[in-house]
Amino acid sequence: MKDTPISYNVVKAKIEESGLPIIGRGTIRDIVRLVNKIESATGEKYVRMEMGIPGLNTPQIGINAEIESIKRGVTSKYPMLEGIPEFSNEAARFVKLFMNIDVKPACCIPTTGTLQGSYASFITIDNMYEDRDTTLFIDPGFPVHKQQITVARQKMESFDVYNYRGNKLRDKLESYFKNGNIHSVLYSNPNNPTWICFTEKELQIIGELANKYNVIVLEDLAYFGMDFRKDFSKPGKPPYQPTVANYTENYILLISTSKIFSYPGQRVGILILSNKLLYLKAPALKRYYSSDVFGYVLLYGTLYAISAGASHSPQYGIAAILKAINNGDYNFRDDVIEYGKKAKIMKRLFIENGFEIVYDKDEEDDIADGFFFTISYPGFSGVELLEELLYYGISAISLIITRSELNHGLRACVSLVKRSQFTVLEYRLKKFHEHHPIDRTEKYNST
Ligand SMILES: Cc1ncc(COP(=O)(O)O)c(C=O)c1O
Repeated sequence: MKDTPISYNVVKAKIEESGLPIIGRGTIRDIVRLVNKIESATGEKYVRMEMGIPGLNTPQIGINAEIESIKRGVTSKYPMLEGIPEFSNEAARFVKLFMNIDVKPACCIPTTGTLQGSYASFITIDNMYEDRDTTLFIDPGFPVHKQQITVARQKMESFDVYNYRGNKLRDKLESYFKNGNIHSVLYSNPNNPTWICFTEKELQIIGELANKYNVIVLEDLAYFGMDFRKDFSKPGKPPYQPTVANYTENYILLISTSKIFSYPGQRVGILILSNKLLYLKAPALKRYYSSDVFGYVLLYGTLYAISAGASHSPQYGIAAILKAINNGDYNFRDDVIEYGKKAKIMKRLFIENGFEIVYDKDEEDDIADGFFFTISYPGFSGVELLEELLYYGISAISLIITRSELNHGLRACVSLVKRSQFTVLEYRLKKFHEHHPIDRTEKYNST
């Protein structure tokens, strides 16, 4: 028994009590629950890197606008499906000013979180075809999207992009698209869990192939503007947030407010349809809806069926934040860049203690510092590493649950780690390193 920073016996007992056959394969919520129990049994605080929730406060502008709208009485009225004009107008301005993409306000739809946006998109796209039935995921990815496909009893295929960066992405994507069954493709950019960011060349490849095979691209921008190697925060000035929308009109953009505006609790997201998709006619839609127009049935068929719109007051909150950003009165990057600063320090601490960054490059460039990073340790599989780190007061999730094919990796999330914990993180990592000397002849354990 080693003198681990957290009592070896307690951690072992709590792992056994958890009933999970292999703790390292646990979901995010499994790990959260287990670590909560260990923390209360030992009184020791963990360096918690398992859950991707924002660690920042909501901008006051949004809160004030919500309160004012409630005082005006919006709670007594049903919201319109297409959203309040202030929301759609400011969202369209935002897309123009920060992505340099032109969309009509009618293309900018409020959803209850972008998770509702992706779910509604999956359902509507699947209803649009008689001869296509599959979504392709460019992985690793966010497990909840797969859960949506599963509960909707739809089909999916996926591949890990690690070995298919740059030009290699073309053949790989085409090998799926040419089979004729794929109707949509989803990826997040920057990527949860790896923080890889697609290069312009890669986005161009995705867009060109989407045109060639008539596939709809669902671009998940949950971490909009958070590739901090560049400053995408100046309204109307380049550089702009990279997007596939520069290369195809077959797109749906999912702009989450949860991380960039620290607004997860109100469940409001922004779904942007291309001008083309808003009016696209697809006769097969008539099987399930009163109309054959994609934009119309997404709203008046699918979103109506799921929640009959998005709550009023959060729309006012986000409209006010967007307006302040669009007018140059508020710079969201100034707040969220803290994630990147913390990641830089934390990555250094891990690397100094024998860890390696798993997804480390965007083609030739080093990966950005941001909300997530990935780690491995020689001699350990990801599943083993996750469990072993628990004895050292550090929690994360295994990359396996994100459909990564690199089974030696873990995802670390920086958001909940406080700067005041860096000293304790360094101490714990040193102990781990001391207890697990690296034999450079053995690489990773693949079990
Ligand atoms: C990649 C990705 N997509 C979507 C979401 C969900 O976003 P929302 O809160 O807007 O539903 C998250 C949240 O963690 C995410 O990481």
